[in-house]
Order: sequence, then C-alpha cells, then structure tokens
Amino acid sequence: MDAGMKGYLARATELAREAGSLQRSRLWQPFGIEYKGEIDLVTEVDRACEELLVKGLKGSFPDHDFLAEENVYASRGARHKWIIDPLDGTTNFAHGFPWFAVSVALEIDGEVTLAVVYHTMLDEMFTALKGEGAYLNSKRLRVSVRHPLRSSLLATGFPYDSATDRENNFAHFVNFQMGARGIRRAGAAALDLAYVAAGRFDGFWESKLKPWDVAAGQLLVTEAGGVVSGFDGGDYSVYEHRIVASNGLIHGEMVDLLARPAPVHAL
Ligand code: IPD
Ligand code: CA
Ligand code: CA
Repeated sequence: MDAGMKGYLARATELAREAGSLQRSRLWQPFGIEYKGEIDLVTEVDRACEELLVKGLKGSFPDHDFLAEENVYASRGARHKWIIDPLDGTTNFAHGFPWFAVSVALEIDGEVTLAVVYHTMLDEMFTALKGEGAYLNSKRLRVSVRHPLRSSLLATGFPYDSATDRENNFAHFVNFQMGARGIRRAGAAALDLAYVAAGRFDGFWESKLKPWDVAAGQLLVTEAGGVVSGFDGGDYSVYEHRIVASNGLIHGEMVDLLARPAPVHAL
C-alpha cells in the first residue's frame, strides 16, 4: 500500500476519533442551535467538530483542499480534496437520539480513494482505501448475500424540504415498504452506507444528498463488494444527488422500483 495513503488514513481516523469524543462529551448537555432552514439545524458541536477536523488535516496536509458542510474553504486547485461531514445525523444529535457519525473522505484527482466513517456512540471505525477493501476496526467487511428484495432490510432518508418539494421520497418509500422485508430511517446517511458495507443493511437509497453525506460511505460499499449507482442504475458520482447502494444482488430490483413514480402496490 502507498505509504502516503497509510499516513492520510492514520491521521483521518485519529481526528475522527477526536471529533467523536467531543460529540460524546457534549451529547445530552446544553448546546447552541441555529437554523439553516425551517427544520434543518446546525449545532455548535457540528461547527466545533468541523473546526477540529479541518484544522487537524490542514496542519498535517497544508496543500490540500477542503469541502465540508458548515463552511466554504477557498480552493487551492489541489489534487487532494478532503470531503467532510463533521456530524452526520445532526437532527438525532440535537434531540439526544444517540445515532450519528463523523464522515471523512479523500478525493485525489477527482476520485474518492479514502473513506472513514466513525460511529461515535458504538466506537466503530469503518475505513476503506480504494482497491484495498473495507474494514470495521481491523475486520474485513463484505456486503450481505441476501436476496431477493422481499427478504431484504433497507435504509433510506427524507430531505429537509420534504414538506414543500415533490421530490420527497414518499412514493419510493411506500413501494419499498411493500416490496422489501423492512425499512429503517435512522437519520445518518453515512451510517446507512457503512451498514450496507457491513452487511447489516442489504440496500439504501436516498435523494438530495450532498457529497459530504456520501463520499466516504459509497467507497465503503464498493470496497465491501457492493454496488453504487444513480437511480437509473448508471454510473455514480458523489456530486449527483441520487444514490442507490446495495449488496449487488438486489440492485436491479431496487432500480426497477425506483423507476415507478407512484406507489405500484394496491391493497
Ligand atoms: C442528513 C442525514 C440524514 C439524511 C439527510 C442528511 P446531516 O445529514 O444524513 O440521514 O436523510 O438528507 O442531510 O444534516 O445530519 O448532516
Ligand atoms: Ca450529513
Ligand atoms: Ca452534518
């Protein structure tokens, strides 16, 4: 393995753990909250974690670029770009529901090559390097072998503007609820993807996600042997906002169901 990549991974996991320990120490304590939209929150812990991660990575890799959720960072036109969600699952965190993560990815020459998703409350470190497999702590991950869709457990989420925009995932949710074994909406897309990589979920779909929600998680899935695509089953980029990720075996069924605009099952 490239020694440089090993160094990037070591630093990213170290900082993700630090951000996670900050999150644990602040959960269930009073903290400041601001509104980005009518229901879309940001807490002072999101901001503190982003500062910790960006400062730490900049200190170690001063020539790199950054794309993170809570601030805009001037581009240096670097080959290396860190893509960071300092706290994925902000609504959960703000309500004291202990299900959230730190997500850090590194893109090199436009390709995501490193993934870190730290599941703060379970102390689970999910990592991947492009071409080297996905790991949970030091255990190699494989996606599940479960199929068909009817026997599968899926995950999804809803956009913050679901009350006011038609692309709200409601029809897809109904279709999958009737076509799969079950669906979980736990509120942290990075963890949904890490769980597909770990075989705990068999598939995941969502729209209106941002690069920082998915950059690390989608690499975990492909490095664990899964498939990631757009809703049409075609090539995927973290800059597109619709994603389907699965163990591969149910991918075709998921893409077929996503092509139906309205609920297809009648009672
Ligand atoms: C959100 C979570 C959630 C997803 C939302 C995301 P945030 O990220 O990943 O699961 O449904 O669309 O925006 O705001 O908690 O970082
Ligand atoms: Ca997020
Ligand atoms: Ca976030």
